[in-house]
Amino acid sequence: MSPNEELPVPSPNDVARKLVAPGMGILAADESEGTIAKRFAVIGLPVTFETRRDYREMLFRSTEAMRQYISGVILTEETLKQSAADGTPFVALFAETDVIPGIKVDRGAFAMPGTKGEKITEGLDGLRHRLEEYARLGAKFAKWRGVIAVSDYAPSRNGIRANAHVLARYAALCQEAGIVPVVEPEVLADGEPGDHSMQRCAEVTGETLATVFEELRLAGVDLGGMLLKPNMVTPGVRSAERPSDSEIAAATLNVLKAQVPASVPGIAFLSGGQSDAAATANLSAMNRMGPLPWALTFSYGRALQNAAMLLWGGDLANVPQAQVAFAHRAKMNSLAALGKWQPELDRAA
Ligand code: 13P
Repeated sequence: MSPNEELPVPSPNDVARKLVAPGMGILAADESEGTIAKRFAVIGLPVTFETRRDYREMLFRSTEAMRQYISGVILTEETLKQSAADGTPFVALFAETDVIPGIKVDRGAFAMPGTKGEKITEGLDGLRHRLEEYARLGAKFAKWRGVIAVSDYAPSRNGIRANAHVLARYAALCQEAGIVPVVEPEVLADGEPGDHSMQRCAEVTGETLATVFEELRLAGVDLGGMLLKPNMVTPGVRSAERPSDSEIAAATLNVLKAQVPASVPGIAFLSGGQSDAAATANLSAMNRMGPLPWALTFSYGRALQNAAMLLWGGDLANVPQAQVAFAHRAKMNSLAALGKWQPELDRAA
């Protein structure tokens, strides 16, 4: 190649496909300051710019895990601009391990007027301008989370419609900026009261996804250049129902097959308060039920980080152990994305 020839820039659709390449998945490390404070409270750690950096540096420097199992990381704006303790920008670390940087662009979910306990996600104002900046900083994909509550009163049709509408407007703006939108409508399993049945989750998830795809089409979003980040179909966390991994997998695939067009390249689930083991087992069960029209993988926050965070505990001396735990969880989920996870692999570890 001559020095003047530019390297080909991957198209957003290539980025979307790369994020869900076989055996690869996304690390969601975009906890807001409030959320990471809750997680650090468990290990008794103060939340500062430095502790957030040190914790995330521990994850991002898990070099082999990042290279082998993690295709992309969802960051906060702070982390996208942040550097490791030795001054290396985090985005430079990602380049070394071929990990794609992503950015959470919503500004959080707030009480929705006229509803009982429902929320609407904010952040559209000024988003076009922010996306230009994020693209300049190296972000290739983005995330926006809409929250759908389940109770005797929720969700209302208005709550589902409004959240689907803003997700579509966000996705259209991302594609205009050359950034792959990850569209995340989360039907909450761990909301209040959280005792709903798996059947109710299936109905609400189905209606939510139907509305989301209606709005995405209306907004002219290219479905081949986006990813969906949904919840799995499970009972609420305080329900007495205890479905098996195969039952959860079958119920989830039933809803997804009815609602998600085959032109969507991939579906990367959130973990939503499931145990680490359950999030892995359920994903693997789904992939065993293939062939499927889309790649199915993980975009987990808690279910990838729980064990590593506890072992780390804020102490530099614990970094190697914490990285082993993170690499193990990432590997288990990578196998699950291939439908090849076995419970013995976790027991052996
Ligand atoms: P959890 O996997 O912890 O649910 O987080 C994923 C996420 O990105 C939520 O927005």
